[in-house]
Amino acid sequence: MAQRFENKVVIVTGGTSGIGLATAKAFAGEGASVFITGRRQDALDAAVKTIGGRVTGVQGDMGKLADIDRLYDAVQQKHSHIDVVFANAGGGGFAALGSITEEHYQSTFDSNVKGVLFTVQKALPLMRDGGSIVLTSSTTSISGTPAFSVYSATKAAIRSFARNWILDLKDRHIRVNAVSPGVTDTAGLNELFGGGAQAEGTKDYLASLIPAGRVGQPEEIAKAVLFLASDDASFVNGVELFVDGGQVQI
Ligand SMILES: NC(=O)c1ccc[n+]([C@@H]2O[C@H](COP(=O)([O-])OP(=O)(O)OC[C@H]3O[C@@H](n4cnc5c(N)ncnc54)[C@H](OP(=O)(O)O)[C@@H]3O)[C@@H](O)[C@H]2O)c1
Repeated sequence: MAQRFENKVVIVTGGTSGIGLATAKAFAGEGASVFITGRRQDALDAAVKTIGGRVTGVQGDMGKLADIDRLYDAVQQKHSHIDVVFANAGGGGFAALGSITEEHYQSTFDSNVKGVLFTVQKALPLMRDGGSIVLTSSTTSISGTPAFSVYSATKAAIRSFARNWILDLKDRHIRVNAVSPGVTDTAGLNELFGGGAQAEGTKDYLASLIPAGRVGQPEEIAKAVLFLASDDASFVNGVELFVDGGQVQI
């Protein structure tokens, strides 16, 4: 197997489940030293075991600046630099306009926007020039979904970060790209859809709307992230790469 990340130091926030876990595994499988984060210690411990290889778990909420500082303190105890940041931690829930609470707004923007912004900004002093940053956006950055406006707005913000940060990081030759998954079968998605048979029914319905005829798997998003993070994407900068089976192209 190609080892595109041998001797590279990679950060994956939200690396204990779903897309982050699959991506952390893929990076570790290609030789990287990987640092993962998540808020739940038990999930973090389980993920570290599952990933194997050179992986370190750092418990923390990426919406809290002190927790991000602890992450990079932990990195500095083992390494002098970072090569790749995959700012992926996030999630959201449904709330239609008219019933959006301040708490819903705050918690969604804290995890998905504040968290990504400061995960990246606080990584910069440690990042190698020529490094790569990948942000998790979503197909919702460019499409509408009932009762999902706050989440969707956070993902549009992420897409915008990638566009703007390539200018701020131009002199350091750090590339920034966004990956936008479509419907992807993760614990987070299943919880959003109510779990069990209800979630299965919703996924079946959504699969019928996707040209590929199915929902995505976290490993398929991981492959796109590794491409964007690697030298294979050396001239890819500021894009939003949709990995959605064609859902938002029709
Ligand atoms: N699945 C989809 O269909 C889909 C589609 C488009 C975009 N996305 C995006 O993809 C990313 C991953 O989602 P997923 O579907 O893989 O969800 P998931 O299975 O729920 O995984 C989310 C991961 O992020 C962590 N996390 C969430 N908020 C965090 C925070 N504030 N600080 C630190 N860690 C945090 C979770 O652990 P803890 O809960 O323990 O913190 C977990 O490790 C999210 O940004 C999501 O918006 C998902």
